[in-house]
Amino acid sequence: TTVEWEAESYDMGGHDTYMHKEIAEQAEAVDRVLRGRIDDRFATVHLGGLNLEPGEARRVRRIKILGCGTSYHAGQIGAQLIEELARIPSDAEPASEFRYRNPVVDPDTLYVAVSQSGETYDVLAAVQELKRKGARVLGVVNVVGSAIAREADGGTYVHAGPEVCVVSTKCFTNTVVAFALLALHLGRIRDLSVSDGKRIIEGLRRLPGQIDEILKTEPEIKKLAREYADAKSMLFIGRVRGYPVAREASLKLKEVSYIHAEAYPASELKHGPLALIEPAMPTVAIVPDDDLLEKNRAALEEIKARSGRILAVAHQVQEKADHTIVVPKNEDELDPILMGIPLQLFAYHTALALGRDIDKPRNLAKSVTVE
Ligand code: G6P
Repeated sequence: TTVEWEAESYDMGGHDTYMHKEIAEQAEAVDRVLRGRIDDRFATVHLGGLNLEPGEARRVRRIKILGCGTSYHAGQIGAQLIEELARIPSDAEPASEFRYRNPVVDPDTLYVAVSQSGETYDVLAAVQELKRKGARVLGVVNVVGSAIAREADGGTYVHAGPEVCVVSTKCFTNTVVAFALLALHLGRIRDLSVSDGKRIIEGLRRLPGQIDEILKTEPEIKKLAREYADAKSMLFIGRVRGYPVAREASLKLKEVSYIHAEAYPASELKHGPLALIEPAMPTVAIVPDDDLLEKNRAALEEIKARSGRILAVAHQVQEKADHTIVVPKNEDELDPILMGIPLQLFAYHTALALGRDIDKPRNLAKSVTVE
């Protein structure tokens, strides 16, 4: 299926920036990526353009996801989703690193190229190199008919609609949802049970409503952003499912507010970043209500004991945090899709408070089509 992009979707629609408009559009964008794909009877999803027979999908031994910037982070969450739901060893790597290190190209590995624009040169070059070596490459791409979509053997469109702001928000969310669909599809061809398939489908269906709930908390997030906007640097932490969320949130803050931000796995705090903790160095912590909740709480305690300021994104108020943004709970595997959204608004309002050029941050381009 192809989706025509109407001229009116480029209209700002009453928003002051494209970034704000695109953040606000996420519920409908997620609805679009789900539409027509869910198969309740077999508790799976259909992805029309995948071009991967069930027998081939069963023979895949590894999945390697390649992308740049925000798309790379979406791929990291995608790799975790595929491992969790399909039990196929998966990881994501920046496309640029991959193509300059003479990678081992293995016939049992399925390669997935992720790109909003479908034109990022490093991703395209990685795809071309893989194809030259005979590998199977799928694309997870937003722009229909783009170079990467054309080069790939098959794949799925992200259906986020046009994204104009240099900094990616709705396309990130939709790309992660597209990976959840791919993971569910692969999982149901392999060993994911019907009941788990149904559970994930129910979770996917709850996403648009939950996104709207998060967006309603914007006034509180705006206040928080103003409170933290004086920081020179911020630390973002998360564990397993929360770690790529922390990485993407830290990238968002850097890109749009120019505040230095660094993401770390919470488990690595004691191996270095604890030395940075002091009141002037706030920490943003991703604290989902999953099996790692206690571990994450322990990390908050360690930071608090060293007088660090903490902003938590969690499913319930965190006592050790100075502030908590509470987000709605979904299935554990799908929580990362929601937990980054308030931090998009946080980055946006921080940048606004600092008077930044939100849709066109200095030194950055929407797509990097040269080496
Ligand atoms: C540029 C943009 C980023 C984007 C990255 C990858 O660096 O500024 O926002 O994430 O390219 O772009 P792509 O179109 O391949 O997703």
